[in-house]
Parts: sequence; C-alpha cells; structure tokens
Amino acid sequence: MPTNRRITLAGRPEGFPDESDFRLEEASVPQPGPGEALVRIAFVSVDPYMRGRMRNKASYAPPMGLGEVMTGGAVGKVIESNDPQLQAGDIVEGLLGWQEYAAVRLHEVRKVDPSLAPISTAVGVLGMPGMTAYFGLLEVGKPKPGDTVVVSGAAGAVGSIVGQIAKICGCRVVGVAGSDNKIGYITRELGFHAAFNYKTVTAYDGKLKELCPDGIDVYFDNVGGSVSDAVWRQIALRARIVVCGQISQYNLEKAETGPRQLFQLISKRARAEGFLVGDFRQHYPEAMGRMAAWIREGRLKYHEDIAEGIENAPHAFLDMMRGKNLGKQLVRVSDV
Ligand SMILES: NC(=O)c1ccc[n+]([C@@H]2O[C@H](COP(=O)([O-])OP(=O)(O)OC[C@H]3O[C@@H](n4cnc5c(N)ncnc54)[C@H](OP(=O)(O)O)[C@@H]3O)[C@@H](O)[C@H]2O)c1
Repeated sequence: MPTNRRITLAGRPEGFPDESDFRLEEASVPQPGPGEALVRIAFVSVDPYMRGRMRNKASYAPPMGLGEVMTGGAVGKVIESNDPQLQAGDIVEGLLGWQEYAAVRLHEVRKVDPSLAPISTAVGVLGMPGMTAYFGLLEVGKPKPGDTVVVSGAAGAVGSIVGQIAKICGCRVVGVAGSDNKIGYITRELGFHAAFNYKTVTAYDGKLKELCPDGIDVYFDNVGGSVSDAVWRQIALRARIVVCGQISQYNLEKAETGPRQLFQLISKRARAEGFLVGDFRQHYPEAMGRMAAWIREGRLKYHEDIAEGIENAPHAFLDMMRGKNLGKQLVRVSDV
C-alpha cells in the first residue's frame, strides 16, 4: 500500500523561514468516505501568501496550525470516487495541500479541462496567480491604451502575466525585478518595453523618470518597500495603484516605515486599492477562457520552474521567497 508523504508546519518562523519550520511525514493514503473522491496530486504550488499563514495571527484567512499539512493549491487526478460527479480520470484543482494524495468533496475542487493547456497551468497562469494578474490589472488598475504601466515582481508568476496583459491592452510596460536574467527574460522574451534590476540600480527615482518620462498611470505593486515608495513619487494625474502584494515586508518582524506618500494621491487625484483575487471567483471561467485563447494565439507566454518531489516543497518555497524562481514556482509530486 503506498503511503501519503506530506509536509506539515513544524515551527512559526521569526524573520526569514528555514527548512526546520517544515516536517516531512508519512501517513496512510486517505480512504475516500461517502461522497468523497481520492486525488493523486501531480503538482503543488508554493506561493508568497503561505508565509502569512505560518504566523499565529489571523488575517483575511485563519493561520495554519502547528502540525497541520501545509496549505496550498494543487492539481491532480481522481483515482477513486464515491461521488458520481467526480469520475476516476478527472483532473481537479483545489486547496489540497502539500501532499501526495487528498480525499476531497466536489465543492472543494474545480474540474480542469486538460485540453486547454498542460495541467500544471491550473495552479499557474490558468489558476490563482493568472487570475490575480487578470483581475488586479483589468478590474482594479483599469488600464487604457497608451497608459504607462509599471509592475514590480515583474518576472514572477503574477507580474510576468500582468505585464503581458497590459501590453495586450495597448499599454507601455515597465518591469522591476531582481536579477539581470529576469530583466532579459521580461524584455526579450515577453516584450516588456523597459525594465530595471532593483538590486543593482540604486537611484530608483531617476531610473523611473528616465523609463517613464510622462509619469506612471498604473502601478501594479507586488512588493511594497522602497521600490514602491519611488514609484508613488512618479505617478501621473489620475493614476491607479493596484496593491496586490507586499512581499518585501513578509519576513520582517517589525513593519518598515518609509516616506509618507499619501500627498501623492491628493496632488495627482490618484487612487490606491487593494484586492483579493478570490473576490472575483465567479468570473474565473470567463477569464480563464480568454487567457487560454491568448496562450494559443502566442500573445501570452508563461514560464514554470518545477522542483521535483514533495520532499523538496519547503526548499522550493524558500527559493521562491528569495527570488530564485522565474515565472511560476511549482513542485511536481507525481506523473498522473
Ligand atoms: N492580492 C491577491 O489576491 C494576491 C494573489 C496572489 C499573489 N499575491 C501577491 O502577489 C505577489 C507576487 O506573487 P507571486 O505568486 O507572483 O510570486 P512570484 O513573483 O512568483 O515570487 C515571489 C518574488 O518576489 C520577489 N521578492 C522576494 N523578496 C523581495 C523583496 N524583498 N523585494 C522585492 N521583491 C522581492 C522575488 O523576485 P525578485 O527576484 O524580482 O526579487 C520572487 O521571485 C506577492 O506579493 C503575493 O503575495 C496577491
């Protein structure tokens, strides 16, 4: 009988987490009860929001308990089912956690059409990160043709898609990312109009002025901190600031203080708005259909960095938090 290898939360990190905050455990493969199906997981996702759930502090979602299986999106194949609406062979996606098998109910998963794209995309460009890019940019950022759009975290799962959707909308796109390799990827492969490496450029204000001479109409903020402080100082009249993520702050025990920027909102009559992707859930199918069409037409590209084996999920997560990933960071758990 195979076992279910899974990663549980072993500690609550202070500052940057490390591998000792996670534990690899073996359990028996769950037996699906009445109305349940057994899923063999193919890919699990590692995402920045998981850092917040490792804290013992309620946010928009409750914290994970010590000893619990790490939360996380995953995609896999139904191998046994006691629900006629979930058939063996169906591909499903949901919050199945960092493990090899999960017993699920119909309402906990969505069925994935494997003819649209490789199934890994169900937790990437055609999953939560892709939906974040799509709704954050289009519904919160409201880009118009000719706008200058700046995106931080520009080579990651969300940012790389934001920039390309902005291009599809007819915008000029400037990316900010943390390595020359990433800058090369987003400008040469993805067609961003300009980009800079925030780890080697020190004068952010001057660089942004040079790359965005007419000011910044939309800022898609994935990182916060000093990069965002500089962007705020360059916003154009009636700019929209999409507050998607603040990853530069996630491992700090004490919140950073920075320049107070709210006067920029007054003088530029601008708007800053946060959002949670889940608020747009009912519109996912339409967005996924559009995004899948853009992929087929070659207008939307995506890259996946794939670690192998559930035992490597903590390492993949830590590498992603350090910026080692290009595009979406995944972990392959099995070939389903
Ligand atoms: N609001 C929502 O509903 C929602 C949903 C999903 C994601 N998010 C947020 O969106 C952001 C991007 O998520 P993702 O899944 O696409 O992750 P990702 O960009 O694929 O990976 C995280 C990236 O963050 C960058 N980073 C790490 N530390 C940083 C620092 N101190 N300063 C600046 N950048 C840093 C690294 O890239 P560099 O090499 O460029 O530093 C790293 O590759 C995160 O802030 C996440 O919390 C929000």
